[in-house]
Amino acid sequence: MRSIALSGDMAIFSLTSPILAIETSCDETACAILSPDGAILAETVHTQSGHAALGGVVPEIAARAHLALLPGIVAETLDKSGLTLDEIGAFAACTGPGLIGGLIVGSNYAKGLAIAKDRPFVAVNHIEAHALTARLPGVAGDEIKFPYLLLLVSGGHCQCVAVHGVGIYEKLGGTIDDAAGEAFDKVAKMLGLGWPGGPALEKLAREGRADAVALARPLMGREGCDFSFSGLKTAVARQIASYGMAALPRVFAADIAASFQQCVCDVMADRARHALALLPDARSLVVAGGVAANGTIRKALEEVSTQAGILFVAPPLRLCTDNAVMVGWAAIETIRSYRHAGQAMEDGISAAPRPRWPLTEIVAAGVRQV
Ligand code: KG4
Ligand code: ZN
Repeated sequence: MRSIALSGDMAIFSLTSPILAIETSCDETACAILSPDGAILAETVHTQSGHAALGGVVPEIAARAHLALLPGIVAETLDKSGLTLDEIGAFAACTGPGLIGGLIVGSNYAKGLAIAKDRPFVAVNHIEAHALTARLPGVAGDEIKFPYLLLLVSGGHCQCVAVHGVGIYEKLGGTIDDAAGEAFDKVAKMLGLGWPGGPALEKLAREGRADAVALARPLMGREGCDFSFSGLKTAVARQIASYGMAALPRVFAADIAASFQQCVCDVMADRARHALALLPDARSLVVAGGVAANGTIRKALEEVSTQAGILFVAPPLRLCTDNAVMVGWAAIETIRSYRHAGQAMEDGISAAPRPRWPLTEIVAAGVRQV
């Protein structure tokens, strides 16, 4: 393996041509091409369909599907951009955290392209990519200032992160059991809805009453900003069991859906308030992850931001859920931050995929203002 500074001679790397990025950490096979200033030249996201029938993402199936899909998705993205591989200045891929099979496929594919074209490779942390999306030109861009609070709520992640600068992250709290999206998916399954369950549950909740079923709010009011959803899931299961699944009337299912959603919503607003208390100089609250698609939750978090007198940023849904634009943008931000700090940057070609990769272990120039 080569291990060279990005500009060869330990000089500081500067991106002058577009970057091609790949995301394969879960069940989205995605590729994007961004100009050096972050303009999206082309993007493709393919959500693998085979998992729905199995009730969740099967890691081995996902990895094989990434392998089968990736060449076509990269070719399609290049085609949309009107560029050839020779015109790409750098390659990037998500190398963790995530499902190891997918990470191996995506990062090796991007590394192969980087080696073939003799271009640098940037290894991107998935959570960091979600954290920096709000700074993408056209989302909040320059309006968003450090530090800000990121609330990442998806099927696999549920955490509050203080973003002090590019490369400077602090996990303020996270779930001690299930992720929020996972709870939505499990409750939806109990109600006989499809997978992923979040969107279907939100739809059904519109027919129900949010105060119909009493559910305890886990960790609400507790110090810090950790989450816990496994007890809530059990509480819902008990309510459903009192009816017997086959006989569950739609009105009751809708009441359960609305009450559960309200419960998650209240907990999330409370946890966000507590996280802001831990980060009193926060200038914005940013949400990301599939659960951020939920209208009730979005509204509650917007209210928390308004009360705190800070900016609320919810990137457009396609950038909230897994995508490769965020991977490309995080790579650009990283390259810029090294440049800004006057430090040389190592080529990520020898970075191994990591199923677990805590934000605190990101090796970066660590720049508070760029
Ligand atoms: O970010 P994402 O697309 O993938 C990862 O998990 O990384 O998030 C998917 C999760 C699923 O658990 C899905 O049920 C949930 O986000 N979700 C929702 C909604 N749309 C998607 N949860 C609640 N309400 C929604 N409208
Ligand atoms: Zn994600």
